[in-house]
Amino acid sequence: MGAVAAVRAAVLVVAVALAAAAAGASAQLCDKYYDGTCPDVHRIVRRVLKRARQDDPRIFASLTRLHFHDCFVQGCDASILLDNSTSIVSEKFATPNNNSARGYPVVDDIKAALEEACPGVVSCADILAIAAKISVELSGGPRWRVPLGRRDGTTANLTGADNNLPSPRDNLTTLQQKFAAVGLDVTDLVALSGAHTFGRVQCQFVTDRLYNFSGTGKPDPTLDAGYRRALAKSCPRRGGNSSALNDLDPTTPDTFDKNYFANIEVNRGFLQSDQELLSTPGAPTAAIVNSFAISQKAFFKSFARSMINMGNIQPLTGSQGEVRKSCRFVNGS
Ligand code: HEM
Ligand SMILES: *[C@@H]1O[C@H](CO)[C@@H](O)[C@H](O)[C@H]1NC(C)=O
Ligand SMILES: *[C@@H]1O[C@H](CO)[C@@H](O)[C@H](O)[C@H]1NC(C)=O
Ligand SMILES: *[C@@H]1O[C@H](CO)[C@@H](O)[C@H](O)[C@H]1NC(C)=O
Ligand SMILES: *[C@@H]1O[C@H](CO)[C@@H](O)[C@H](O)[C@H]1NC(C)=O
Ligand SMILES: *[C@@H]1O[C@H](CO)[C@@H](O)[C@H](O)[C@H]1NC(C)=O
Ligand SMILES: *[C@@H]1O[C@H](CO)[C@@H](O)[C@H](O)[C@H]1NC(C)=O
Repeated sequence: MGAVAAVRAAVLVVAVALAAAAAGASAQLCDKYYDGTCPDVHRIVRRVLKRARQDDPRIFASLTRLHFHDCFVQGCDASILLDNSTSIVSEKFATPNNNSARGYPVVDDIKAALEEACPGVVSCADILAIAAKISVELSGGPRWRVPLGRRDGTTANLTGADNNLPSPRDNLTTLQQKFAAVGLDVTDLVALSGAHTFGRVQCQFVTDRLYNFSGTGKPDPTLDAGYRRALAKSCPRRGGNSSALNDLDPTTPDTFDKNYFANIEVNRGFLQSDQELLSTPGAPTAAIVNSFAISQKAFFKSFARSMINMGNIQPLTGSQGEVRKSCRFVNGS
């Protein structure tokens, strides 16, 4: 090879390598993404969260759920955070979110603190991922390195929120399908459902199981009788408050542990969708529930892995989307 040809070949190799690196960078999240541009991002989010927790013992659960409700609708792009505007029909009013998803003002506080420290750098989609991770950790759950580098979307999809998010009355087949549609398998379904180890739930999501399950006029046979009587006190058949709150895990309401699975083992899952993971005849999820009920270590390991899987749903990266100035509005709108 002559000198000129050698240089040409070398240039070509470098160009191909750079192109591959650029493609890789735009497709892949990385836990060191803000190391150069906002090195204190984790410390800042943690500080705001600890303060929020002082007035609201439920906030860690609520923020964990927000990340989930974001990622299942056109990927982890912070679409759930957009308010109604001329260009946006907000997902906040979709059935699974309306009067249910919460924590938005704390996301605003995190964003404000980050805009002060490193303006225009940290996306709202990454804020949700970091807030979920730190919320689980501060509640006693597992730690993991959270992949970052998501960009914020400029659209929302209310129909997508209505259709893609699971309902507590979905059967196991439908739950599996909704998870598979975003690339998550049965282990992800069981592990991530373990997030119901903390947080609250309204009476309206259990009254059919207490009094008239699937139109039978009888309670859900897979609901423990003692637990049913206790829930009936909080959620009476008539004259009650359908928005009254109950603990998803009454044994340790604000702690992230394996008790969600221990509860299911004794027919004390709160939602139909919780108990089904064990009680559906032939359920492929039953053995996974059993393994997590026995071993908190196994649950924590799977939960961390599945949160990373969920956080990887269709992120916008590279020059896609934008970094919003306010999590509630698309820039320039
Ligand atoms: C498997 C399908 C799922 C269904 C059907 C479901 C359904 C629900 C429902 C109905 C509530 C109560 C909402 C209310 O009363 O307003 C709830 C709460 C909650 N969900 Fe799920 N969920 C599922 C999966 C998940 C996943 C994957 C996560 C997170 C990884 C999660 C985290 C939470 C948390 C932390 C709460 C409590 C929120 C709070 O107190 O504000 N859920 N879920
Ligand atoms: C936002 O828009 C939706 C759909 O048009 C509507 O149902 C909802 O009431 C609006 N919410 C507010 C606060 O304006
Ligand atoms: C959302 O909840 C409010 C009550 O807070 C209700 O008035 C409104 O109709 C609900 N919106 C939708 C779209 O269901
Ligand atoms: C919104 O989500 C639904 C899925 O339920 C999908 O069919 C539809 O194409 C989405 N709309 C847009 C504009 O992406
Ligand atoms: C699960 O629910 C879907 C949708 O409602 C229904 O079509 C299907 O037959 C149900 N499957 C089972 C096994 O009950
Ligand atoms: C139970 O629900 C079904 C339909 O969902 C209804 O037809 C029936 O009247 C209800 N039974 C009782 C005892 O409330
Ligand atoms: C119903 O319960 C909710 C949640 O605790 C509460 O905010 C609301 O004020 C209650 N409504 C009534 C009519 O008591």
